[in-house]
Amino acid sequence: MKLETHPDLQVELGALRLRVPTLMGSGCYGSGEEYAPFADLAEIGAVVLKSVTRLPRLGNPTPRLAVTPSGLLNAIGLQNPGIEHYLAHDVAKFASRPCAVVGSVAGFSVDDYAYVTQRLAVRDEIHAIELNISCPNVGSEGETFACDANLAEAATKAARAVTAKPLIVKLSPNVTDIAAIARVVEGAGADALAVINTVRGMAIDVDRREPRLGNAAGGLSGPAIRPIAVLAVWNVAAAVRIPIVGQGGIESARDALEFFLAGASAVSIGTGNFTDPRVPLNVTSGLRTYLAQRGAGSLREIVGTANPGFLGPA
Ligand SMILES: Cc1cc2nc3c(=O)[nH]c(=O)nc-3n(C[C@H](O)[C@H](O)[C@H](O)COP(=O)(O)O)c2cc1C
Repeated sequence: MKLETHPDLQVELGALRLRVPTLMGSGCYGSGEEYAPFADLAEIGAVVLKSVTRLPRLGNPTPRLAVTPSGLLNAIGLQNPGIEHYLAHDVAKFASRPCAVVGSVAGFSVDDYAYVTQRLAVRDEIHAIELNISCPNVGSEGETFACDANLAEAATKAARAVTAKPLIVKLSPNVTDIAAIARVVEGAGADALAVINTVRGMAIDVDRREPRLGNAAGGLSGPAIRPIAVLAVWNVAAAVRIPIVGQGGIESARDALEFFLAGASAVSIGTGNFTDPRVPLNVTSGLRTYLAQRGAGSLREIVGTANPGFLGPA
């Protein structure tokens, strides 16, 4: 199949060059293979793998998902086999993906972030690392790093010190000033920022009189959080010069365009894939149509153009 190249949708996240600016959100796209029957992976930019931790994790008690109006609450709890099992049994399978593969690292200490990043990043199958310092579903520990500027800086520096591969740091919306955290993370050596992870929330079953999630609280994703995410990108884009991967509730090209116009260089699609695995392909074709109709030769031309404060990737 001949892949379209015009208008130009290429994006660079540090040294990670993507032909199209769509990443598949961590925890929402398996390792890509699961979606191959529904979508040609050559037509997406990258798959971000499920976050992996130093030790195996069973995750939270069930139920782990609850559907809410225009949104999805999840509290998976970082279920994963741990880095050693992952390296021995899973990573080799990622070599055959026709798109870029981004490993996602989660941790509970600065040393965890350094250790897991170092172990994962040396593998050729992994083209970039996303540092998940913003998981709201593992008690307060998971998010602590994204909610405290000193810890966000320390985790980023520790990961930066052990790899030269592109480093994307994923920020939390559950803070007072996301732009301040973004600035610190940029200074600590991140190549790009993922904005945003899920928004903390809860739903209660009024008949059973208890929270609907086994973990009680969870992280909200999907269209319900899109305005929160667009504002976060808008604010971060006025604070840093490194590229932003905008995410939160994207289900169409027009949704994605809100993020690009606010200052994102790329977008990530998570929950949207659950309802329609063709969302990423629709986003790409819709972006091409939008740009062509406006006589734009590249996506870059419109990034940040709605945002007077946009600093732009240098
Ligand atoms: C079921 C589920 C599991 C997720 N697991 C992870 C994860 O392991 N690591 C991570 O960084 N983000 C995780 N996320 C967050 C998504 O990658 C994404 O940042 C967030 O859901 C917002 O985008 P969306 O509205 O397009 O889903 C998860 C989200 C969902 C819904």
